[in-house]
Amino acid sequence: CRLHQQQAWPLVRVCWLFLALASKDFEPQDLDVSVVGRSFMITGANSGIGRATAMAIAKKGGTVHMVCRNKDKAEEARVDITSESGNMEVYIHIVDMSETRKVWEFAEAFKKQYPALNVLINNAGCMVHKRELNAEGLEKNFATNTMGVYILTQSLIPLLQKSRDPRVITVSSGGMLVQKLRVDDMQSEKGHFDAVMVYAQNKRQQVVLTQQWAKAHPVIHFSAMHPGWVDTPAVSTSMPQFHQMMEERLRSVEQGADTVVWLAVSRAAARTCGGQFFQDRMPVPAHLPLAWTHSSAEEIQSFMTQLETLARAI
Ligand SMILES: NC(=O)c1ccc[n+]([C@@H]2O[C@H](COP(=O)([O-])OP(=O)(O)OC[C@H]3O[C@@H](n4cnc5c(N)ncnc54)[C@H](OP(=O)(O)O)[C@@H]3O)[C@@H](O)[C@H]2O)c1
Repeated sequence: CRLHQQQAWPLVRVCWLFLALASKDFEPQDLDVSVVGRSFMITGANSGIGRATAMAIAKKGGTVHMVCRNKDKAEEARVDITSESGNMEVYIHIVDMSETRKVWEFAEAFKKQYPALNVLINNAGCMVHKRELNAEGLEKNFATNTMGVYILTQSLIPLLQKSRDPRVITVSSGGMLVQKLRVDDMQSEKGHFDAVMVYAQNKRQQVVLTQQWAKAHPVIHFSAMHPGWVDTPAVSTSMPQFHQMMEERLRSVEQGADTVVWLAVSRAAARTCGGQFFQDRMPVPAHLPLAWTHSSAEEIQSFMTQLETLARAI
């Protein structure tokens, strides 16, 4: 049952939509926690799932560090979050996650300025349709979705390790189920550039990174997750036909943020094994049944080495 990527993609969409419609059986008290005194960094916090996550955490009393690329959008979101939550501990950091060296500079400066960071939420993501390179010569989707996440997380690990109950949540996507790690073409240089597949490859890279980080740093609780299909600007601009077809059935941003918030604040999440892929507050398989998407230990090692080599060069 070796499905071709292109054939599998619609199948995955249907699978996830069924899951999205499945009735939920959540423990309401899981989210009934105060996070006063804990700090949360959320990338892409001005819009969609990231903004809903920032709002939910601000309402629970957490200190929120919004990492955004657009100052006006970030300020507008911050004003909304502080006025609706009444929490003034909401800070903006302007960083473009596709600018690799600047991400590193930001993380290093943050470590010097702040004594602790309890939770990092890698939420910012993009689907750039043409193959473009950033200043360091990295393909932009890879730079934002993978390298930005890698550099930010790696740089902040020492700070997270010093902090109480540290967690890292990466907002991946069920789209990654159709991709196997491509260690010989991490930046989509070979063949036709299909942005949906490039995005899915990046999301697979995030899931593999999460598994590897969990093994290397057991003190920190790492998880990746799929938010369901959510009505956000990312979906309406990157996949307009899909958005038009599914508009009625897409999740609200609050529904999309639910598992992110659960992973970030609940005691129940901290009791789960690190390195897993979640949907709807449950660990779910990171591969479809009988899928060809598993990587060997050598392939994973090669992926990690290549990332580290690229990061060190920058
Ligand atoms: N919506 C879905 O159905 C769905 C499904 C699976 C996974 N996801 C994932 O969910 C995450 C959030 O997306 P969303 O759906 O909430 O979309 P969204 O509302 O468009 O939010 C994306 C956020 O990422 C930010 N961002 C993008 N590129 C960036 C960069 N280079 N530097 C800094 N910030 C950047 C955007 O900033 P600007 O506002 O400045 O553009 C925005 O704040 C993404 O990782 C996405 O892949 C979404």
